[in-house]
Amino acid sequence: MIIKNMEKEHLSGVLKVEESCFTHPWSKESFESELSKSESFKFVALEKDEVVGFAILDIVLDEGNLLDIAVDEKHRRKGVAKKLFEKMLEKAQEKDLSFITLEVRSSSAPAISLYEAMGFERVGVRKNYYSRPTEDALLMTKYFKKD
Ligand SMILES: CC(C)(COP(=O)(O)OP(=O)(O)OC[C@H]1O[C@@H](n2cnc3c(N)ncnc32)[C@H](O)[C@@H]1OP(=O)(O)O)[C@@H](O)C(=O)NCCC(=O)NCCS
Repeated sequence: MIIKNMEKEHLSGVLKVEESCFTHPWSKESFESELSKSESFKFVALEKDEVVGFAILDIVLDEGNLLDIAVDEKHRRKGVAKKLFEKMLEKAQEKDLSFITLEVRSSSAPAISLYEAMGFERVGVRKNYYSRPTEDALLMTKYFKKD
């Protein structure tokens, strides 16, 4: 498995993974819009040229916001998301980010375990943030430096 920058050629594979993982998946246009942003980091995990996972980290000044991460069900628990994180964290250090933040459905136990394993702390809750089904968002942050 290798991690590469996400390019237009990966879009159909990325959409396939996205649509299989989420009840309200991002549209093709949303991914195209992210691809056009030079300041964000977008990575795909490829297994024999097939997209098996991806991650999108938006950057504003020295802050990172994890917008999306997903791994195809058949390829889970093999360290794919961990590899995607390692790449993002490497870039975050290069860019001297202060922190990375994210929101996650409070019922997404695998994702919350992943983020905790990657050093994220629970910092807050947004009540009823998600719809269909209505659910709280857990806010999690990984700090790189603290004043
Ligand atoms: C969350 C997700 C991205 C994890 O991907 P993955 O490639 O299976 O994760 P990894 O194999 O790299 O796991 C790394 C660590 O995260 C934790 N973890 C991952 N999945 C877990 C699970 N189902 N249960 C408990 N811990 C889990 C473990 O600590 C794991 O390390 P270990 O396998 O050595 O115990 C994947 O389950 C997924 O795509 N889920 C659906 C989409 C989603 O919820 N995305 C997040 C939106 S906020």
